[in-house]
Amino acid sequence: MKVTKSEFVISAVHPDQYPVDALPEVALAGRSNVGKSSLINRMLARKNLARTSATPGKTQQLNYYRANDDLYLVDFPGYGYAKVSKTQRAAFGEMIERYLLSRDELKLVLLVVDLRHPPSKDDISMYEWLQYYNRNVCVVATKADKIPRSRWPKHIKVVKETLGFKQHHSMVMFSSETGMGKDELWGIIESYTDLGSEANETYAGEESESLLGDQE
Ligand code: GTP
Ligand code: MG
Repeated sequence: MKVTKSEFVISAVHPDQYPVDALPEVALAGRSNVGKSSLINRMLARKNLARTSATPGKTQQLNYYRANDDLYLVDFPGYGYAKVSKTQRAAFGEMIERYLLSRDELKLVLLVVDLRHPPSKDDISMYEWLQYYNRNVCVVATKADKIPRSRWPKHIKVVKETLGFKQHHSMVMFSSETGMGKDELWGIIESYTDLGSEANETYAGEESESLLGDQE
């Protein structure tokens, strides 16, 4: 998908703040500091739309970003960050659980993991939760630029085995640093959000018709 327009829409704390325009939503879950916000910036071709930080725990609400007028990328708070208080952690958990359980607009969850390391206990729990809630999942193994290509297969194997990866889910290698995996990930997102070729063909058709019209 070619993103020509993107914007930050809202940091939602309560469900009554979620957008009501019924656009499809793609959420990003993953450990704190794994690179979720960076991935959003790369996908939207914006440097600093989603706030990134070397300090973990930056994203603490559901942050909605709109791509064109087509869909929302929803940035979750990262989990596994020790300095977040127990009360805060429980509140995040509840918010995310409610969202995963009941949000009809949610079409796909990107489970973002670090290709360099085996998925954590929290990653495994999140993956199990997503299956329990019957959500479509794409595992995105990011920071791939930090590992030589020759070692990717070994790391992919560890990620898959540790997670107990299910073959009917998708998996993509990604790097927010280089942009690797961006097109493939957009392809997957489009296929789950009904933004695939059909809509684009109609659009192209309309465009060529009006071009012909101009010539007459
Ligand atoms: P929280 O909001 O705390 O949950 O973190 P996050 O998952 O949004 O991580 P964020 O995008 O803020 O990135 C954390 C750090 O990792 C930053 O210093 C990024 O520059 C770096 N980073 C993210 N993605 C990549 C990547 O693909 N390659 C490299 N080399 N660094 C990355
Ligand atoms: Mg973030």
